[in-house]
Amino acid sequence: MFKTLLRQVKQYKWAVILTPVWTTLEVVMGVLIPYVTASIIDKGISAGNMRNVYIYGLQMVGMGCLSLLFGILAGRYAAYSSTGVAANLRDAMYRNIQRFSFSDIDKFSAAGLVTRMTTDVSNVQNAIQMLLRVSFRAPLNLISSLVMCFFIHSSLSLIFLIAMAVLGVCLFVLISRAAKLFQKIFAQYDVLNAVVQENVSAIRVVKAFVRENHELGKLDRAALALYRLNIRAERLMALNDPIMNVVVYGCIISLSWFGAHYIVAGGLTTGQLTSLFSYIMMVMMSLMMLSMIVVQLTMSAASVKRIAEVINEEPDMSNPQSPLYEVKNGEIEFKDVCFSYKPGGDYALSDINLKIETGMTVGVIGGTGSGKSSLASLIGRLYDVSKGAVLVGGVDVRRYDIAALRNSVAMVLQNNTLFSGTVLENLRWGKEDATEEECRNACISACADEFISSLKDGYNTVVEQGGTNFSGGQIQRLCIARALVKSPKVLILDDSTSAVDTATDASIRKTFEERIPGTTKIIISHRIISVQHADKIVLMNDGRVCGFGSHSELLESSPIYREIYNMQSSQGGESDFDSNTLTR
Ligand SMILES: Nc1ncnc2c1ncn2[C@@H]1O[C@H](COP(=O)(O)OP(=O)(O)OP(=O)(O)O)[C@@H](O)[C@H]1O
Ligand SMILES: [Mg+2]
Repeated sequence: MFKTLLRQVKQYKWAVILTPVWTTLEVVMGVLIPYVTASIIDKGISAGNMRNVYIYGLQMVGMGCLSLLFGILAGRYAAYSSTGVAANLRDAMYRNIQRFSFSDIDKFSAAGLVTRMTTDVSNVQNAIQMLLRVSFRAPLNLISSLVMCFFIHSSLSLIFLIAMAVLGVCLFVLISRAAKLFQKIFAQYDVLNAVVQENVSAIRVVKAFVRENHELGKLDRAALALYRLNIRAERLMALNDPIMNVVVYGCIISLSWFGAHYIVAGGLTTGQLTSLFSYIMMVMMSLMMLSMIVVQLTMSAASVKRIAEVINEEPDMSNPQSPLYEVKNGEIEFKDVCFSYKPGGDYALSDINLKIETGMTVGVIGGTGSGKSSLASLIGRLYDVSKGAVLVGGVDVRRYDIAALRNSVAMVLQNNTLFSGTVLENLRWGKEDATEEECRNACISACADEFISSLKDGYNTVVEQGGTNFSGGQIQRLCIARALVKSPKVLILDDSTSAVDTATDASIRKTFEERIPGTTKIIISHRIISVQHADKIVLMNDGRVCGFGSHSELLESSPIYREIYNMQSSQGGESDFDSNTLTR
């Protein structure tokens, strides 16, 4: 886990090494200052020697300046390396996420990945910064202050050791309790982030259903739980201060008491006692810092683990040894295919056997959850089959280079989206070097050219994030055009014309026939009217194919199809596919 972290240090190696060096020098200067103070008092002020006051005074100013300089360097280097390593971690995660298959994304969930890339990385960044600066400074300060104390007066220094032991035990109890709470706090952050993310990304749905209060309640509950956990942790951590104060003042009183005795007896000078007081503060400050480091490290260990999981995840789908880069044609065949989203889980598709010839238009129809999208996703190898094989162009999809296959099999997914940029940039998603002419042709085929041309900026109109400045039907047509720009051998439209009116739906089908006759077209829909002109129609029910043939063949052979057709045509073809009909 920490190896993954170390591997991401990369170009910041020197900054990581130099930070502790600057810190050490800063500490050395800081520790020597009280020692020089003792000399000013004993050899200058008490002895009435002004020359010594000036000499030691100048020494102190010099050391102070150096300490400041090294402190600034240490701070800069620590910030540089911690932000740099955090950037590397984000980059490594993002790169690996791009390699993820659909099932990997299902495994981590989109919200989980966002939390890992933001909150968790920030945690680790803070921990690295603290680790580089404080974790060297605190023990160094502690040890060197103790050494100086023993150097000045060994018997009096025993007071420090006793104080440290008391403080150590108290802090250990405090931190071990707080660490458990912090772990709970992070898990709760995940919950809170998920609520916010879900709400913000679906804010339109929330408003449409007037669910604002329900959503507020969800956020309140998550925030309240987080608040309670934080209060408990802070209450514990707040004990830190009184404990420190009791121990520090106990030390000061004991030191004053015993120190006074030693001074009277002649075994200690006033200057030495003054510097011992300064060292007390240093020792206690270092202990406090150490306790904070331990808390921060426990907090960030969980984050490092979550980050390492993403970076080290091996995508469960990879290119074969010697992949094929050429998809011959748009022929598709399903051979005894069974498919489950989770290994060992229930099958979303069972015993599928289908053969679709190249250039055919095939409609897929069935109730919600009947497996239409699952069936389509296997053609572009978005998921791998659990049993059997899917063949495109006569070859098992697992033998193709994944990019080459997906360039030949264009899918307009059910919940497709546009990206911020211009219309033209969106169209060029599938093919970077597509000319304006090619893009326009694709838009004509998808019946999108007309509305784009009517826009003030035409093809250069800016699409806002998620395509919010376009209507649902316009987004669908742009998504279809974007798929067509690739000139694919297979085009899959998953419910992609659900938001366009029936007349436009019909003209899209017509232009397809005229303009892309050689492309195999798979059209998934809930409306029979959208697929009745197809060469073949696949009727799906509960993950199985329960009918395959042309509209007229199915009308004759399948009573279910007939019933749905009659029902939909009596409602003007506008009603959705009723899945209950199938189960009746
Ligand atoms: N990513 C996923 N992880 C786990 N199960 C899934 C996933 N996607 C779909 N399923 C399940 O697989 C089954 C088939 O879903 P699928 O999306 O293929 O149906 P569909 O016919 O496309 O439905 P709709 O008409 O509503 O789009 C459903 O039971 C669904 O719950
Ligand atoms: Mg679907």
